[in-house]
Amino acid sequence: MDRRAIGVFDSGLGGLTAVRELRRRLPQEDIVYFGDTGRVPYGTRSRETIARYALQDTRFLVSHDVKLVVIACGTASSAVSPETMAAFPLPWTGVIRPTAEAAVRASRSGRIGILGTAATIHSGSFQRMLHTLRPEAELTAQAGTLLVPLVEAGWTDDRYPAARMVLETYLRPLRAAGVDTLILGCTHYPLLRPMIAQLMGDAVTLIDSGEATAAHTAGLLTRFGLEGDPTHRGTSRFYVSDTVDRFTEIASAFLGADITGRVEQVDIESY
Ligand code: DGL
Repeated sequence: MDRRAIGVFDSGLGGLTAVRELRRRLPQEDIVYFGDTGRVPYGTRSRETIARYALQDTRFLVSHDVKLVVIACGTASSAVSPETMAAFPLPWTGVIRPTAEAAVRASRSGRIGILGTAATIHSGSFQRMLHTLRPEAELTAQAGTLLVPLVEAGWTDDRYPAARMVLETYLRPLRAAGVDTLILGCTHYPLLRPMIAQLMGDAVTLIDSGEATAAHTAGLLTRFGLEGDPTHRGTSRFYVSDTVDRFTEIASAFLGADITGRVEQVDIESY
């Protein structure tokens, strides 16, 4: 048994899709979340910059004595080097493998779409993993550059026709390719899920990278003997690198729990 918390980070709100699923699956676990709201978006930056940010984010979580690190960000997962992460004395996971595995399981036709940030799509991380798992898969990859700012602004539902128009543009090539499975390869995108589902139609299975990664994390805890006390009621603490107000508001709505007073601002550059 290990009572330490699970550490989760993302460039902003997106990793909450993993947190929500972790809380559902593992209610006994404590979670320390870091959202790099002062430096979001990551997905338009260079690989070197993203890797440096991810390293600082990991150091921050490790300073909170977490037992495992979840990189709940497709962009950071695509940029970190496994060698750098191996230097930390604890297990970690990114989103690429768990999400690709879930997509391969779900796809009947092998025509799989990937929607991710520009950095994720250009890194080829999902494409390589999917082809390793299913060499004959036909992949269609699309960068959704404007989607992270939309989510961070809270423009995630039908009250915002601009969000729908942007999504329509990004989803058109994926629909034209006839994918039967679509990877939401950026953890922010599941916040737009209702609109994406509507535009893609019922025949397309959406794979939520946050959800798939949370499921994988549960397996890692068991594998490494790190499960928490089953009688404990897990709590979550949140840290951000910009003001707490907007994060608190959107995160509370998304998690379905008021997290006022549980969000703190930190100076991530000092890590
Ligand atoms: N949630 C991050 C991801 O999964 C968003 C990256 C960004 O900030 O652009 O890719």
